[in-house]
Amino acid sequence: MQKTIGVLTSGGDAPGMNAAVRAVTRTAIEKGFKVIGIRRGYNGLLNGDIFEMDARAVSDIIQRGGTEIFTARCKEFKEWEYVLKAKDKCVELGIAGIVVIGGDGSFRGAADLSKAGIPCVGVPGTIDNDIQCTEYTIGYDTAMNTVMELVDKLRDTSHSHERCAVVEVMGRNAGHIALNTGIACGATAILVPEVEYDLEKDVIAKIKAGQAAGKEQFIIVVAEGIGGTEELAKKIEAATGVESRATILGHVQRGGSPTVRDRVMASEMGYYAVELLEKGIGNRVVGLKEGKVYDVDIQEALAMKKPFNERLYKIANEISL
Ligand code: ADP
Ligand code: F6P
Repeated sequence: MQKTIGVLTSGGDAPGMNAAVRAVTRTAIEKGFKVIGIRRGYNGLLNGDIFEMDARAVSDIIQRGGTEIFTARCKEFKEWEYVLKAKDKCVELGIAGIVVIGGDGSFRGAADLSKAGIPCVGVPGTIDNDIQCTEYTIGYDTAMNTVMELVDKLRDTSHSHERCAVVEVMGRNAGHIALNTGIACGATAILVPEVEYDLEKDVIAKIKAGQAAGKEQFIIVVAEGIGGTEELAKKIEAATGVESRATILGHVQRGGSPTVRDRVMASEMGYYAVELLEKGIGNRVVGLKEGKVYDVDIQEALAMKKPFNERLYKIANEISL
């Protein structure tokens, strides 16, 4: 009997998820599998919201942002009872393995389903690049380029009005987007959840030093995890006299056509995930380590700690004067 594998996207969407779905589907078909697309993350498994995918089902999606098979959060899946229900559904459908494209939370679900007897392989898809076991997550590059473009636009208006733009970028628990886009946009200060900051020393004093040196406009990049962006703009204005405006970029950062890096990474990781399932290997996450695609046990992956690039942060601070 022809073996079947499923593919789903779960948690927050990310540009490049479609490219991953495409790679998984085409690789699996090439290897002789039947492929089932599971809509809306784990909800689709529980509700039987599925459809058979042929090679053409993933035509014309590599360039699209978002995820054509939809994504969702499925609270029930944190309960074992529902994991078992999903397992029964897989058995009923003859699904021998699933590729789960998502973040940490989605991988916990994949670990549970693997434990219940359905091998699952996680592919990292999140704009935050906050997954411990991998140097890169699908969507990160596109999101950063979006931020860079938007902050460049803010710089134009900040320059005209000689203002300070306080820009909040995504990253609930991680400052990777903030750090890299802050450097790329020439921010005066970058605030991230990984590093404690002192408003007076790390922001106000730098703006004042800039003013003294004749600088007439400023950009402060703040990771979402820091919060209080509106308040921060008010404090900066009060302390420095520089008119300040807060901009929260929000979900626009999650959209858009994926960059080359995201499309290629998604294709490579999706391909690798199917290779694992072909060998009957589950409970793994695909990642990037020293520039190479590899795989790691899900529990081990979740227990790792992602380092913050302290050196890059230091560089950002030193060249921001
Ligand atoms: P992300 O995958 O982007 O980290 P979430 O944390 O929202 O996003 O998780 C996505 C989904 O993964 C959840 O809605 C749920 O279906 C599943 N999930 C999250 N945590 C667990 C868990 N501890 N056990 C089982 N499933 C989980
Ligand atoms: O995709 C990651 C992320 O963008 C976080 O930085 C952010 O906090 C979160 O998702 C918000 O997601 P949602 O609005 O879908 O809950």
